[in-house]
Amino acid sequence: MARKLRLLFASSEAHPLVKTGGLGDVSGALPPALTKLGVDARILLPGYPQVLDALPLRRVRRDLSVLNSQEPVNLLSGKMPDSGVPVYVVESPSLYGHEGNPYQGSDGKDRADNAQRFAVFARLAAQLAGTDSPLRWCPDILHLNDWQTGLAAAYLAFDPARRAKSVMSVHNLAFAGTFPPHLLGELELPWYSYQMHGLEFYQYISYLKAGLYYADHITTVSPSYAEEIQDPELGAGFHGLLHDRHSDLSGILNGIDTKVWNPATDSQIKHRYSAARLAGKTKNRSALRKHLGLSDAPKIPLVGMVTRLTDQKGVDLVPAMMKALEQAPFQLAILGGGDKSIEKQLAALAASMPGRFSLTLGYDEALAHQIEAGADLFLMPSRYEPCGLNQMYSMRYGTLPVVRSTGGLADTVTDATPEALHDGTATGFVFKEASAEALSACLKRALSLYAHPRVWRRVQKQAMARDFGWEQSAKRYLELYRDLLA
Ligand code: ADP
Ligand code: GLC
Repeated sequence: MARKLRLLFASSEAHPLVKTGGLGDVSGALPPALTKLGVDARILLPGYPQVLDALPLRRVRRDLSVLNSQEPVNLLSGKMPDSGVPVYVVESPSLYGHEGNPYQGSDGKDRADNAQRFAVFARLAAQLAGTDSPLRWCPDILHLNDWQTGLAAAYLAFDPARRAKSVMSVHNLAFAGTFPPHLLGELELPWYSYQMHGLEFYQYISYLKAGLYYADHITTVSPSYAEEIQDPELGAGFHGLLHDRHSDLSGILNGIDTKVWNPATDSQIKHRYSAARLAGKTKNRSALRKHLGLSDAPKIPLVGMVTRLTDQKGVDLVPAMMKALEQAPFQLAILGGGDKSIEKQLAALAASMPGRFSLTLGYDEALAHQIEAGADLFLMPSRYEPCGLNQMYSMRYGTLPVVRSTGGLADTVTDATPEALHDGTATGFVFKEASAEALSACLKRALSLYAHPRVWRRVQKQAMARDFGWEQSAKRYLELYRDLLA
């Protein structure tokens, strides 16, 4: 029997241990999906307190010197909760020992030592895949995710005898991981890597660019985003490089974890339900209204939104939308956190519409599930969206998504046009322009369909029947790994 393909999946977050957004969901779910396909997949994570506290871990290597780090680094090993996928954890209290958000301090600002934190993490990832590995287990593929791991592709590329191939997955091109060029010495990379054909990016070092330039292959999380990032508008300054490397670039749509996101078994919601038994959904809505202090209005639909509050997500269009649709029959529930000015703007709006608009600031996983289960519609007016997971969770929960046609949203939601309604393919509502007018018109269209309960139910069932599990996408990753090794 052929030896199993060995994969090291390096990520700065992985659900259920640490998550700030979709990267955490993907890193928690893709490796187990690959394990099911026969891959020897292992995860590499920084040793944040939430990881060290949650897992029984064994020290497999101690006192490693990585990039002359002030303090020696230990390598621990354990198993992910639920999936049981093996995980290596990089232990260094001075680098990863802070409580809270993995990238930011309690002031909401990026940590001052992020350059060192993610250089050490990436250096060790490359070491584990390279010729000077401290472990006997050596991966065939080093799979990197976003800027936090990008440098590893450069380290691996400069390892003359290495066998492993690197794959750089872009979850969000807007985070370039830029740091001042004087750090180059500390990074122990050759001086000539600091150039356009290397990791230089507008006179800074970009960890993401290191990944995009040096990785053997680049993937991004939807086919549409793979096309969009080759153009200046969404290329975030990398479009030239991505266009040059388009034959090494593929878009593989994210899946969703159908165990974590399943209305029939979800333990975080009050009433379980399925496409055949939708009554539980209505009960969840009543419970959610009560919990959020929204008025009890059984005939009026509830629109939900769960999101990081950043420019990317188009939340700034919401106030004008609420004004334009002042008289329309719906309620709105938003859960989110992030940009302080957006938080303030939304808080003022919510205060002016008690009973109609509820805003919960912060991060709350249980409430995220309850909104998916209790809402009738789900808003995602994103300016760009590499993939987006919430629209897929929404469809699975019979909560019809209202999305802007961009990236993964365009690839996953089928607009309820007359044709799509007729041929039974509609799963949501899609609009083109990033404007409050277009968003309002689209939501209005959704509300008119809601007035036809039989048609609504049919579309709900169509959405719930869509298969967004990881299996198909995991197969595509496996094909890609095999091609790279052939
Ligand atoms: P992104 O990664 O850009 O934030 P995705 O749609 O891919 O967008 O994934 C977001 C993930 O983070 C989803 O699982 C969503 O439920 C979760 N999430 C976002 N904001 C919050 C929040 N405030 N509370 C709980 N979960 C959140
Ligand atoms: C990013 C993107 C999001 C994507 C997620 C997981 O955070 O913003 O669209 O779904 O990564 O790939």
